[in-house]
Amino acid sequence: MITGGSRGIGLAIACALAGEGMRVVISGRHSRALEGARRQIPGALAVRADATRPADVARLFRIVQRRFKRLDLLVNNAGVFTYKPFVKTRLREWRANLETNLTSIFLATQAALPLLKRSRPADVVNILSIAAVQAFPKCSAYTASKFGALGLTRVLGQELGSEGIRVTAILAGPTDTRMIAEFDFPVRRERLLQPEDVAAAVVAALRAPPRARVEEIILTPSSGRL
Ligand SMILES: NC(=O)c1ccc[n+]([C@@H]2O[C@H](COP(=O)([O-])OP(=O)(O)OC[C@H]3O[C@@H](n4cnc5c(N)ncnc54)[C@H](OP(=O)(O)O)[C@@H]3O)[C@@H](O)[C@H]2O)c1
Repeated sequence: MITGGSRGIGLAIACALAGEGMRVVISGRHSRALEGARRQIPGALAVRADATRPADVARLFRIVQRRFKRLDLLVNNAGVFTYKPFVKTRLREWRANLETNLTSIFLATQAALPLLKRSRPADVVNILSIAAVQAFPKCSAYTASKFGALGLTRVLGQELGSEGIRVTAILAGPTDTRMIAEFDFPVRRERLLQPEDVAAAVVAALRAPPRARVEEIILTPSSGRL
């Protein structure tokens, strides 16, 4: 199950996992984008669900339960990004970052737990950012949400290990997706990571033997973080 699987990094992860033989479910807020993505992923199921809405998230995992009875992997990937100085950041933008990048992990992981417990091993992979450990100007809401998400991921890693659930954080550097393209973010496009690079890191973490947990991967462009 990959939240925000309709484009960008989430879509690349979905394609890579389908290539590994997994049956994939993707979610997002927009039907048309989801349908376009679903057609690119062999055997995928696409479910429209806003990751910040508890009722949507509950329905999403009811569908997963009916269809598959269990869940091997939850990828918390849905995210938004606001790029503007702190003084110009509006409360609704602050809330959108916190709710999409942090609260959605709380909602999806809680809803997924009963299904994850039926798989051995089961995995939760949270797609975070280098902004979970490094402050960037004009990224206050995003940085706060990702620092929080890393803290939550570390707690989950400690609490869920004894339940047979491995938790991994992927701290990705700037990646060539719509999220970056929409803003005047100071990066050189030819130096960006590609979504497939992040997907390859996810697959590598999952390939660790069940007794081993990859806690955190920091993946940055080889030319530098920005
Ligand atoms: N691009 C980067 O440089 C970069 C670097 C490090 C980490 N990341 C992280 O990687 C993740 C994916 O980002 P991306 O770069 O692939 O961005 P993207 O191309 O903008 O894709 C974001 C995905 O999240 C979905 N989404 C957004 N809000 C949602 C919501 N409330 N409920 C459900 N789905 C939602 C979007 O679909 P809808 O809009 O249709 O809902 C879309 O599928 C994010 O967590 C981001 O913070 C990105």
